[in-house]
Amino acid sequence: MSAAAVCVVVFVVAAVTTLVLPGPARIPGGTLPGLADAHGIKLGVAVAVDPLREDPAYREIVTDHYTSMTAENAMKWVHVQPERYAFDWSGPDTVVDFAEDHDLDLRGHTLLWHNQQPAWVAEGHYDADGLRAVMREHIQALLGRYEGRIDSWDVINEPFEDTGTDLRDNLWYRTLGEGYIAEGLWTAHEADPEARLYINEFGVEGGGEKADALYELASGLVADGVPLHGIGFQGHFVHGDVPDDLVENMRRFADLGLDVEISELDVRIPEPVTDEALAAQEDEYRRVVEACLDVSRCVGVSVWGVTDAHSWVPEWFPGHDAALPFDGDDRPKPALTGIHEALGRGRRSAE
Ligand code: G3I
Repeated sequence: MSAAAVCVVVFVVAAVTTLVLPGPARIPGGTLPGLADAHGIKLGVAVAVDPLREDPAYREIVTDHYTSMTAENAMKWVHVQPERYAFDWSGPDTVVDFAEDHDLDLRGHTLLWHNQQPAWVAEGHYDADGLRAVMREHIQALLGRYEGRIDSWDVINEPFEDTGTDLRDNLWYRTLGEGYIAEGLWTAHEADPEARLYINEFGVEGGGEKADALYELASGLVADGVPLHGIGFQGHFVHGDVPDDLVENMRRFADLGLDVEISELDVRIPEPVTDEALAAQEDEYRRVVEACLDVSRCVGVSVWGVTDAHSWVPEWFPGHDAALPFDGDDRPKPALTGIHEALGRGRRSAE
């Protein structure tokens, strides 16, 4: 065969293996980033700064398997501005530079939350005007520094109580009232007009009263013209309890004109972790990624940690483990196959 003919064959094979086929047809082969790109979705991962700096195997998992990153902790208030006006950019700079060096998208996480606030904020010494000033300074400094370099921001994190339908009684709500949500979004929009701005919440992935309350909140913000662009459904699931109505629930938010994404996916397994549970977890990961593919405005799925050795789960849920697609020795688990298989099929057009 001539060199030209070989080129043509290679080109055709490459085109076929990366094509998004309609219907349930499969996309054979392909890397996870290649498949995610072919579907037009992000496949993301939450990263910690120290292993990103120090651990080549950790870096390689990120760059070989994902197209997007979220800073798991480094962009949170307590790390960025531990004392008023004393900004520490070392962690965020590491994450942003790494993303740019490797052509990865970036989710900014997070601005107004009840956790990981430094004492000078959390102690609540400020009246409404004082807290407003503090909020503006922080958002302008952080979003301003990285303007145009961070694709989306979780501006409002976990605005509802853990269960039920009440807005969370956090510092922002207590001091500024419900309007803190719109104020935070407007402030972020002014600081980085191109960034996609999100409310990020847990326990709302399937239907239910908390999801309904979030839907009401989002509908009101959209109707008022507030710059809300998307909803992050965190997706911290317990093995055996991944909701069946992910698609239906995400679609109603998408129908408001919002992007949706699974922003912090993990599926924690009660110990002992068996091969059977890991095999079933593969199916759970597959289902979640398929759900995103079945919602045309679902812009991506991000997992909450690089390996089980870095997961928040064992610390926060003693007796649970193995929540992520890589084990504690950097080896891929069945869950990664589940993601791969979900991405290996064409996007359904049932909407
Ligand atoms: O910073 C200290 C460090 O100085 C100290 O040496 C070390 C000793 O344990 O602790 C460090 O703090 C840890 C902190 O993360 C780092 O910022 C805490 O122990 C640890 O509990 C804390 O947990 C984080 C948690 O948010 C805090 O609420 C998790 O890593 C992080 O995965 C988790 O992420 C949240 C999302 O932001 C929002 N959605 C839920 C998700 C899971 O809780």
